Amino acid sequence: MKLQIEGIHTYYSESYILKDLSLVVPEGKVVALLGRNGAGKSTTLKSIMGLVPPRRGRITFGEQDLTDLPPFKINALGIAYVPEERRIFSHLTVREHLLIAQRRDTLWSSERIYEMFTPLARLRDRRGRFLSGGEQQMLAIARALVTGPRLLLLDEPSQGLAPVIVDAVVDSIAEMKSRGLSILLVEQDLEIPFKLADYAYIIDQGALVFSGSCQELRAREDLQSRYLGVEV
Ligand SMILES: Nc1ncnc2c1ncn2[C@@H]1O[C@H](COP(=O)(O)OP(=O)(O)OP(=O)(O)O)[C@@H](O)[C@H]1O
Ligand SMILES: [Mg+2]
Repeated sequence: MKLQIEGIHTYYSESYILKDLSLVVPEGKVVALLGRNGAGKSTTLKSIMGLVPPRRGRITFGEQDLTDLPPFKINALGIAYVPEERRIFSHLTVREHLLIAQRRDTLWSSERIYEMFTPLARLRDRRGRFLSGGEQQMLAIARALVTGPRLLLLDEPSQGLAPVIVDAVVDSIAEMKSRGLSILLVEQDLEIPFKLADYAYIIDQGALVFSGSCQELRAREDLQSRYLGVEV
């Protein structure tokens, strides 16, 4: 199912953040949402999830209008969200995190997850507070997957991770994509989007400044340096 955002305007009380933002995540595609610090990337994901509902505009998922739904209903429609701050429970083990989130009718069983994120398999009895940042990130993604989503919203999954963990995360995203999941991937960096994404959007100060294929963005060094701080 396609996610479609049509001209949303989102505020935090009086602060006007997202200004007439539109974007599409086609079924089965990986779409990168890029932009520098404070551009409004996380706010876009929160708008989709109904955590910070837009004051104007419309968001649809397939035929379903999400605009006035509470977060739990949006989640029940098959949209899972992995926030920037991961929100791992310090007292629960890896296994318990997966157990409480697991839905039965999905291809993502705990066993499947442990094959995909091999480090989690040996850590299954470790409590959240004793996991490294990279392990917590894997667990946060795994916990979203076992809910059996059709669309996954990932907020800066590579942030603060060692290169080898980033590779594991990239591989996992590639596998999710190969199984037909749609992914909206927020990143500040181009490394992961260039490996995986089909399309890219760049936002700056809450407004769209580029949309196109990743191929196109690769050729646009002007945009990369202007909006993403890439040195050329
Ligand atoms: N709860 C809040 N209340 C008020 N303003 C907020 C709140 N959360 C974010 N903002 C502001 O909204 C703007 C967009 O923030 P957002 O978190 O969406 O940016 P971002 O693109 O995700 O940035 P980063 O890359 O640093 O995570 C920023 O100016 C930020 O200060
Ligand atoms: Mg953010």
